[in-house]
Amino acid sequence: MRMVDLIEKKRDGKELSKEEIDFIIKNYTNGDIPDYQMSAFAMAVFFQDMTTEERANFTMAMVESGDQIDLSAIEGIKVDKHSTGGVGDTTTLVLAPLVAALDVPVAKMSGRGLGHTGGTIDKLEAVEGFHVEITSEEFIDLVNKNKVAVIGQSGNLTPADKKLYGLRDVTATVNSIPLIASSIMSKKIAAGADAIVLDVKTGAGAFMKTTEEAEALAKAMVDIGNAVGRNTMAVISDMSQPLGFAIGNALEIKEAIDTLKGEGPKDLEELCYVLGSHMVYLAGKAETLEDARAKLQEVIKNGKALEVFKTFLSAQGGDGSVVDNPEKLPQAKYVSDIKAEKDGYVSEITANEIGTAAMLLGAGRATKESEIDLAVGLMLRKKVGEKVTAGEAIVTMYSNSENNEEVAKKVLEAYSISSDPVTAPPLVYKEIK
Ligand code: URA
Ligand code: CA
Repeated sequence: MRMVDLIEKKRDGKELSKEEIDFIIKNYTNGDIPDYQMSAFAMAVFFQDMTTEERANFTMAMVESGDQIDLSAIEGIKVDKHSTGGVGDTTTLVLAPLVAALDVPVAKMSGRGLGHTGGTIDKLEAVEGFHVEITSEEFIDLVNKNKVAVIGQSGNLTPADKKLYGLRDVTATVNSIPLIASSIMSKKIAAGADAIVLDVKTGAGAFMKTTEEAEALAKAMVDIGNAVGRNTMAVISDMSQPLGFAIGNALEIKEAIDTLKGEGPKDLEELCYVLGSHMVYLAGKAETLEDARAKLQEVIKNGKALEVFKTFLSAQGGDGSVVDNPEKLPQAKYVSDIKAEKDGYVSEITANEIGTAAMLLGAGRATKESEIDLAVGLMLRKKVGEKVTAGEAIVTMYSNSENNEEVAKKVLEAYSISSDPVTAPPLVYKEIK
């Protein structure tokens, strides 16, 4: 087989066989296929697309390019959740203990954040002593015992995707549905999920700007998952603004605690119920989605979900008492309000810009080597649809330095204020199975 012939075949819109796709991924991973040929191939896929079968084969070839996590020693159906959005996305922190409280095993492999998106591990490390440096044996034992544990990402998961993603980034081929879908799904499958719930974001701050694009991506991922034997479904949810109020590590832990007490922001709570219901249902712990939702509401009401969060934090070295005393979380030195410059109605809050503003405060990493400040971040005081008057606080800033003009400027840029009334967008647009 020659790579040049396979590039030509895809360029001309023909379907590649499993053997041909395996050849490409295997030889690209080991360095026998050079970047320039893979770039041409990615561009051919960008224009010619892939069939459902090609997408599934491409995904599995990437899964098989590196380590695959074996979670078979964990009892029950392991359901993973993935969000394509991610600025101030506190859902993972809420959902992990919430569904675990219903005996759904949550074996979460997670990463650190880079740029404007926060990583779940960074957030959890805002709890004094919490760590994810545990062995796979400890990880599996903890999930069997407490139903939830988090471990750091293994070094050699889907190396083909890592290499290809880097190449796509510099060859204008990131924004291709078959390539995005296979990239995301390969990582979830290699991490050992039996079933997958996807939260595909749509709106100005998301990868997929329109509902139609989000739907096409969601459908592509659901088809791949189901074609390779992983029960998969997707929820298309709104990203015309960040979810909840908090963006920043300790602030999001506090927000997760509030939500697990039933006192969190309503949009965050609702999305957790929607995604959580699907997770519980796919795990076989409820007969219907309605039944699943009722059970989730019950463990929030009776305190079990919060108790599971406490146990989970303590089991990985963390100070579980933060659940009862959130003031023990890292606190910022300076708290100040960013004020609206004019009257009107909030029409959009661009998630990327809010994420960048939080990063400038130190809540996120500008480079892989940056140290993050766990205490700092932003709390949104006004959300889409709300009325504001000039001089009124729209965001509260938590900072450890006195001069934050650049941050305030970014926050004001992120907010669009319209003179006409705005109706808040729906939280969930569609569910795809
Ligand atoms: N996220 C991924 O993991 N892969 C993509 O291709 C795009 C977004
Ligand atoms: Ca949040």
